[in-house]
Amino acid sequence: MGRLDDRVAVVTGAGSGIGLAAARRLTADGARVACVDIDGDAAKRAADELDGLAITADVTSPEDVTRIYASTDERYGRIDIALHNAGISPPEDDSILTTGLDAWRRVQEVNLTSVYLCCQAVLPYMQRAGRGSIVNVASFVAVMGSATSQISYTASKGGVLALSRELGVQFAREGIRVNALCPGPVNTPLLTELFAKDPERAQRRLVHVPMGRFAEATEIAAAIAFLASDDASFITASEFLVDGGISGAYVTPL
Ligand SMILES: NC(=O)c1ccc[n+]([C@@H]2O[C@H](COP(=O)([O-])OP(=O)(O)OC[C@H]3O[C@@H](n4cnc5c(N)ncnc54)[C@H](O)[C@@H]3O)[C@@H](O)[C@H]2O)c1
Repeated sequence: MGRLDDRVAVVTGAGSGIGLAAARRLTADGARVACVDIDGDAAKRAADELDGLAITADVTSPEDVTRIYASTDERYGRIDIALHNAGISPPEDDSILTTGLDAWRRVQEVNLTSVYLCCQAVLPYMQRAGRGSIVNVASFVAVMGSATSQISYTASKGGVLALSRELGVQFAREGIRVNALCPGPVNTPLLTELFAKDPERAQRRLVHVPMGRFAEATEIAAAIAFLASDDASFITASEFLVDGGISGAYVTPL
């Protein structure tokens, strides 16, 4: 028996990185998973591997977002878990001194407005069921500042954290838990691509992680599966840090 047997999960950004690892872990724990991605081939590959439902959708589009939950409910008849994970970290989002308004707005749309849209769309299904677990992916930069700035990304993740906290409080008595998962730096294409362009920047970050390494996506996925499950039944509105100690460090071990 898996701890997520009979549960149905929606995972946005399931085509790569943390989302793919989470879709795999939720499936391994017994859930049926709707794999959502703007990259239709990647969504299909994930869904084929996991015997799930592939949904090609742009999480910044209100129509697409409505369709994500409607088609999942139509296929499986319920939605227990929503992992809002799709996000971007483009190189043109940098210091506030050089980041243009277009780059700022694009990152806000994909990282923050999408979470607003997705929560707004899924909550009625969870209210109908009288239960549910929403996990919104924020970041450790929601709780601490970085001198190697990505100003819009950081602000968007702060927004995800504040939004999740408030929803957790608002819907607590309806059996719906909402948590913000805050990963430390993870070994995924998003980070690899960003740092391949600037290895010095990678080193500047790595030195601050007490564990001396980036997380593997499977380690973040394990935390997501926990928050999604009844093992986390008294955890809501939390800032759930899975960061190798980075946010607790004053100095790091040699
Ligand atoms: N990698 C890290 O170090 C790290 C650290 C903290 C938080 N995060 C967060 O974790 C989440 C996942 O990051 P990742 O590293 O796995 O990234 P990734 O680039 O490997 O995967 C992101 C996925 O989201 C999809 N996506 C992008 N825009 C979309 C849109 N508009 N609609 C639907 N899908 C879209 C992409 O196609 C991709 O498959 C992001 O929210 C990111 O900010 C990552």
